[in-house]
Amino acid sequence: EKSGYDHFMLKEIAEQPRAVADTLLGRIGADGLLTLDEMRLSGEELREINKIIVVACGTSYHAGLIAKYAIEHWAGIPCEVELASEFRYRDPILTRDTLIIVISQSGETMDTLMAVRHAREQHSRVLAICNVNGSTIPREADAVLYTHAGPEIAVASTKAFLTQLVACYLVALYLAQVRGTKFGDEISQIVARLWEMPSRVEEVLSTMEPVRELARSLAGERCVLFLGRHVGFPVALEGALKLKELAYMHAEGFAAGELKHGPIALIESGLPVVVVVPSPSGQRVTHEKIVSNIQEIRARGAKTIVIAEEGDTSVEPYADTLIRVPAVPTLLQPLVATVPLQVFACELATAKGHDVDQPRNLAKSVTVE
Ligand code: M6R
Repeated sequence: EKSGYDHFMLKEIAEQPRAVADTLLGRIGADGLLTLDEMRLSGEELREINKIIVVACGTSYHAGLIAKYAIEHWAGIPCEVELASEFRYRDPILTRDTLIIVISQSGETMDTLMAVRHAREQHSRVLAICNVNGSTIPREADAVLYTHAGPEIAVASTKAFLTQLVACYLVALYLAQVRGTKFGDEISQIVARLWEMPSRVEEVLSTMEPVRELARSLAGERCVLFLGRHVGFPVALEGALKLKELAYMHAEGFAAGELKHGPIALIESGLPVVVVVPSPSGQRVTHEKIVSNIQEIRARGAKTIVIAEEGDTSVEPYADTLIRVPAVPTLLQPLVATVPLQVFACELATAKGHDVDQPRNLAKSVTVE
């Protein structure tokens, strides 16, 4: 079943272009507009929403963090993101006009399921983004949008994450379409860029040998830091989570702007720091700021591993290792920038002799609170 791959994780990483395409398929009309009637939320219900809370755990939570940028930017709806295990132990202000979006690959995560029940008791509408047909969470939710990643066997989530991002983009754009916060031609332009993403992910996959080499060279390290800004911040969190899960290394993701508020004290000679650089055209200001962060940490001896858009020459003098990803619209960058981090963690863990499909202490779906 591993189709010639040594591990399910490698197979699932390789399946990502297909998974992204499958999640788009059948959801876009010939006019480039979205047809998400399957969600079973009426136009009227969608127009009434005045707040969105995205609730999830682990990697799915990182997808939620990215969804917030898309929902606020495209649909103009205030959006919060919360860990499912925290959500119901405070007193979230929920009304009928609050839409709760829960994201769960398995559809069986107990923390997330309890959040669904809590939200429904308060009469909020719940939309589930889920990969497993007929699992508990979509059955209990008011509406569901399935990701079409296919079965994900490896404990570490990879292709499910990319398809969760696609589903979140679709929901954000659909809300923009139904509520009229974007014109039809703007939506179809973004949709056209989404359609290019399977090829962009394929391009990234075809250039991963230097990343694998780098990972092997870092197998003796004790700690790796990850920095990002804007949608690159959740990507940094995801890169760190993958490394914790698979390589059992101390790994931490930070918002690069927070460096000077504390984490910079961690920087010491030889420490590997992965930096996810925003697009210089799409994110001019944050790009400039992160380039100075790279200079600062390098001046303190960090080994800089820089993930930057093709053609971004400004980072070249400060990158000990430069990983190129294709230029794509800012909000879509996580679809390409996450892939090298998955490959990095998988290869590093393999170099350390770990079982990447079944990391210690972890289960594929966490059915206890
Ligand atoms: O099935 P879910 O998406 O609800 O699972 C949530 C987390 O348990 C999951 O993403 C976990 O963090 C993964 N092992 C990450 O690779």
